[in-house]
Amino acid sequence: MLDAAKKLLAPSKRSDVPPFIVMDVMAAAAQREAQGAHIIHMEVGQPAAPAPATAIRAAQAALAHGRIGYTETLGIASLRARIARHYRDTYDLTVDPARVVVTTGSSGGFILAFLSLFEPGDRVALANPGYPPYRHILSALGCEPILIETSAETRWALSAKALLAAHQRKPLKGVVIASPANPTGTMMDADALTRLIAVAEAEGIRVISDEIYHGLDYAFAAETAANVSSQAIVINSFSKYFCMTGWRVGWMIVPEVLLRPVECLQGNLAISVPTLAQVAAEAAFDGRDEMEAVKHGYEANRRILVDGLPKAGLDKFLPVDGAFYLYADISRFSSDSLDFAKRMLNEASVAATPGIDFDPVNGKHFLRFCYAGSAAEMHEAVGRISNWLRR
Ligand SMILES: Cc1ncc(COP(=O)(O)O)c(C=O)c1O
Repeated sequence: MLDAAKKLLAPSKRSDVPPFIVMDVMAAAAQREAQGAHIIHMEVGQPAAPAPATAIRAAQAALAHGRIGYTETLGIASLRARIARHYRDTYDLTVDPARVVVTTGSSGGFILAFLSLFEPGDRVALANPGYPPYRHILSALGCEPILIETSAETRWALSAKALLAAHQRKPLKGVVIASPANPTGTMMDADALTRLIAVAEAEGIRVISDEIYHGLDYAFAAETAANVSSQAIVINSFSKYFCMTGWRVGWMIVPEVLLRPVECLQGNLAISVPTLAQVAAEAAFDGRDEMEAVKHGYEANRRILVDGLPKAGLDKFLPVDGAFYLYADISRFSSDSLDFAKRMLNEASVAATPGIDFDPVNGKHFLRFCYAGSAAEMHEAVGRISNWLRR
């Protein structure tokens, strides 16, 4: 009887996706904090600052009004129009608001993009290292993630040449690109992005561009794939630049032919995106001055780490172009980033994420530091790591 019940309850193979190791680091850090330790959190990729005051006020007003109902599946019309305006203001690009789809964070966008573009068994290229949920969502949907190694030659971004080589080995159906990228913080310049998209589209490879870290660029301005091709799916979010991770709201720019399938998918999967979050998101665009000040804080933090970590002993890292990550090579000290991260947490009270979360091949040699905290925390972290590595 018990065996029969177990069989009935056995999880599907497709649900067998690996955990996000950063969550385990967070849990270990929380345990140490419960014992009285003062941990500097550089493991989770989220802003320490709150949402813009304009967003919070708009949500409070909507809440006071009382009724929070469903919205149109593709999102509140005025928010879609405001997002389209954002493309004009930021990239000098006209986007038809009809092509804007509001999603539950960019995470909701990936599911819609992958489901509307790919069949089970399709091969989809990803840069390695990369954001783990790309791989895991694709696997859960029955697609095959194909990891392509990046190198210093292309500023650790996916190149047109590498994509073509992978496609010639065995045909690809899609590619996910991200600039600035997580975990590396590296970026593609406009030429590299244009070349990559041109090669992909010439070969019939569908392009999905994750632009969640746009706005957080320090070396040069990020280009949107929407400016390069009307066939690419662009995915973005209010989580990072607008400091709204917990609101769960993002957006996509979708080629016309995919609009109806995406609408039907989202209608069935979610009905609509949380209304309060959409109201807040629209008002967030009026809080840009506040968000620019937050970005200046990240820039200062970046400088503290870029100057300080080499003095502490971590002198090899990838170009710190954008987002709020620094991807440091720890191979001088360890070839086991999970163990290194655990020891750094226990002995130096600094939490960072082991590279194996992002790169099953070389991640054991890397650690990702998130610098979205305060300048004081960055100075303190550099000091603690320095003392720890010198012991
Ligand atoms: C590269 C990248 N894409 C997407 C996401 C998901 O963000 P959200 O669903 O909050 O928009 C993250 C979160 O860390 C990320 O780093």
